[in-house]
Amino acid sequence: MTLRTLDTLGSLEGKRVIVRCDLNVPLRDGVITDDGRVRASLPTLNALINAGARVVVCSHLGRPDGAPDPQYSLEPVAQRLSELLGAPVAFARDTVGESAQDAVASLEDGGVVVIENLRFNAGETAKDDATRAAFAAELASLGDVLVSDGFGVVHRKQASVYELAELLPSAAGLLIETELDVLDRLTEKPERPYAVVLGGSKVSDKLGVISHLLPRVDRILVGGGMLFTFLKAQGHDVASSLLEEDQVETVRGYIAEAAERGVEFVLPTDVVVAAAFSADAAHETVSADAIESTAFGASGIGLDIGPETAARFAEVIRGSKTVFWNGPMGVFEFPAFAAGTKTVAQALTEVDGLSVVGGGDSAAAVRQLGFTDDQFGHISTGGGASLEFLEGKKLPGLEVLGWA
Ligand code: 3PG
Repeated sequence: MTLRTLDTLGSLEGKRVIVRCDLNVPLRDGVITDDGRVRASLPTLNALINAGARVVVCSHLGRPDGAPDPQYSLEPVAQRLSELLGAPVAFARDTVGESAQDAVASLEDGGVVVIENLRFNAGETAKDDATRAAFAAELASLGDVLVSDGFGVVHRKQASVYELAELLPSAAGLLIETELDVLDRLTEKPERPYAVVLGGSKVSDKLGVISHLLPRVDRILVGGGMLFTFLKAQGHDVASSLLEEDQVETVRGYIAEAAERGVEFVLPTDVVVAAAFSADAAHETVSADAIESTAFGASGIGLDIGPETAARFAEVIRGSKTVFWNGPMGVFEFPAFAAGTKTVAQALTEVDGLSVVGGGDSAAAVRQLGFTDDQFGHISTGGGASLEFLEGKKLPGLEVLGWA
């Protein structure tokens, strides 16, 4: 079965088209700090506007508790969308109630409305199928067809992602198509050498992807908080750095499996250790096998990969034809511990082949560090979704669109 694409929906002129986007953007004091997901939704929205559709945009934002919560309102996102589209965008203060019904009824051909956060309704994320189906039926009353384009949420079996796509004629939007094209290139016959760079805090989030990619890649580079579980598995002390003690044995197993398969785990040889988890903490760079030797002793906390490691990672990345990167190398939000992430990002921009940045944190990191999207082969809008795809999992929001 193949993915149903926009063209399968026929003429959309004058039709009410619900577009399920993932506009789950980071906000600080009501201000969007990274609008990447809003920009990624534009190709589909522009295509629908140009086709004369009446566009009803819906999304989740954050994880509210199934009830309205002003800090998670989509209103700032609707404003940003309007700026980016260069056209007015209406905003409905509820998701399926009177204001949503009225706003949709007032739409003209080519008009756009954003309805309030889907997760203000318990039915969106309900565990039980019937509750989700009931909410999906309410949503369905707002449209004639569904275009599903929230790639970042296709791994969730939620009402607007799954049940709604069963209720209405539905197809994938252009963002989902693009994301799948790229992710397919990472799994089906990727050009070699193929390197995967993993960071972020938790090893446990990455186990699936490591085990699925081990038979497919040449090198796995490990940074971020998760590196300390690898160093521990190699027998090193990690002082007070982040450690998942219960994953040490599993990691040892992966290191052994990699050796059998001829896959190289490229692990840090030096790290930056700080006195505390704070932006202005005193810090020292030490060899990875001497983390407790700093002035901070057993209370030291590793917050970044060291310069020697970063240089080695950059060399491996630049020498690869395919690179997938998920997870920052250190606490990039603090300038003193951003160097590793910056070096890795820079190297990705120099890959002579396919470079893919996956995940909200990594995408935010590269933008915050001053890189632009066009310097990379692709920046995925999906964090969990792209990882689950690369784990080889079946994703409900894609299966319901015919993807197999
Ligand atoms: C994401 O940010 O990864 C997606 O928007 C999904 O959000 P969720 O993890 O809250 O379901």
